[in-house]
Amino acid sequence: MLMVRLVAASALAWSGFAANEIVGDAHRGEQLFRTERCVECHSINGRGGSLAPDLGKRIDRDFTPTVMASLMWNHAPQMWSAMRKEGIVRASLSGESAADLFAYFISARYFERPGDAARGKQIFTAKHCAECHGTTTSNAAGAPPVSKWESLTDPLILVQQMWNHGAKMREAYAQKKLRWSALTSQELRDVLVYLQGLPENRALVTAFAFPPSDSGEALFQSKGCADCHKGKLALENRLRTQNLTDLAVDMWNHQANMRQPPPNFSQEEMRQILGYVWTKQYLQGGGDVERGKKVFAEKNCATCHNDPASGAPSLARGPDGYTDVTMISALWGHGPRMLQLMTERKLPWPRFTAPQMADLIAYLNSLH
Ligand code: HEC
Ligand code: HEC
Ligand code: HEC
Ligand code: HEC
Repeated sequence: MLMVRLVAASALAWSGFAANEIVGDAHRGEQLFRTERCVECHSINGRGGSLAPDLGKRIDRDFTPTVMASLMWNHAPQMWSAMRKEGIVRASLSGESAADLFAYFISARYFERPGDAARGKQIFTAKHCAECHGTTTSNAAGAPPVSKWESLTDPLILVQQMWNHGAKMREAYAQKKLRWSALTSQELRDVLVYLQGLPENRALVTAFAFPPSDSGEALFQSKGCADCHKGKLALENRLRTQNLTDLAVDMWNHQANMRQPPPNFSQEEMRQILGYVWTKQYLQGGGDVERGKKVFAEKNCATCHNDPASGAPSLARGPDGYTDVTMISALWGHGPRMLQLMTERKLPWPRFTAPQMADLIAYLNSLH
């Protein structure tokens, strides 16, 4: 079961962000990656086994959690047989553990598109960052050296800093008569890859935990985000393919739109807001119920799950019961039995594109 923290769903809540909260932590995820022995076959960014794809290597795929969920479904039978051969016992993966793994992948930048350190170094100079931030020294009053940046180890802190800092920075740029300019996601990715790869930063331990959102909606209102972000600018469905580097850039670029001075946020407040506006849409892929219904039929899911006599359980969990995270824990827990029954009935193992996975999730969430 997905570990849930029940949150009062107010009448104002957007339909996409409802009751169940996802609780997952990168440190626990990293441990799981070792104790579940994923690491014996897979490496992340070069560390680990080489029997299976390096999960940190991002080729030309558009990585989202939904891509990962569909890849794991598609590869599962081969993965299970590789595990049998290696004598690895497949433990079941609770919803909470699956969320821990996702958190670990987020902290390991698995969902980021590739960045380029050489380009990042240039940008860090060209955008004047280096004039205030030395890598180990501070070059301007109050500007922390890069090796002291908390935001380098936790992408949520980066989002918050890019908002708070963005405002102060505009002033600092003006005082120094430097031209402030917007950043693209690619530029920030390049800068991060450059900074994280510096020898003095390589040992930094990255962290990430899915943010809570109990007071996220209230803050979204009280801090004024809701004044602009409604109607055409409503954030629902706008953020589902955005990762945290994209969001950090959104925050930086905001400064051009803001009344001055813009509101300031504590780390906890920004976590709450992101927990409210971002997590669910990021982990559900924004699929379409009708198309999902077709996927459910075409991939033969309906053959068993719409036939009580087959022994397959009902999949109705209510709205938001399914995310990329629960699809993986369900696969890990129930997949082998499903595979066995499918083989007996001569049904092919289902393979999904990421949009099909998103549609399927939308459909499952519509069942009651
Ligand atoms: C015994 C070796 C083994 C273990 C242990 C293992 N895997 Fe895999 N995994 C594989 C193989 C082999 C593939 C590729 C299968 C294929 O090509 O169809 C794969 C594929 C994947 C993919 C798709 C990768 C891609 O980019 O295409 C993901 C994601 C994944 N595994 C995650 C995990 C996780 C998470 C764990 C631990 C819970 C795990 N694996 C444990 C062997 C393993
Ligand atoms: C004019 C001086 C100046 C320039 C140029 C500058 N910064 Fe800063 N930066 C500061 C100051 C001062 C702070 C601390 C301010 C604060 O507490 O909000 C800071 C803080 C930060 C932080 C937060 C550090 C932490 O603890 O996590 C980040 C991230 C950051 N800057 C990134 C950048 C990037 C990226 C650039 C270039 C695009 C840049 N800065 C350019 C002065 C500057
Ligand atoms: C003064 C109006 C205003 C306020 C207040 C405001 N925003 Fe924005 N925001 C904008 C505009 C304008 C854009 C750019 C939209 C676009 O690119 O089409 C934007 C973009 C964004 C984006 C990126 C959206 C996308 O489609 O990529 C995010 C995320 C965001 N804002 C979050 C927030 C949060 C969180 C708050 C409150 C802390 C906030 N905004 C407050 C006007 C505002
Ligand atoms: C051959 C019959 C069969 C087919 C086809 C089938 N399933 Fe299942 N499914 C089962 C059985 C049986 C279980 C329970 C397995 C167990 O108890 O370990 C199950 C369990 C599940 C669960 C976990 C339920 C829960 O609440 O934890 C999910 C999710 C699921 N199936 C989704 C699907 C999807 C999506 C498809 C189509 C791609 C599909 N199934 C196709 C028989 C089937």
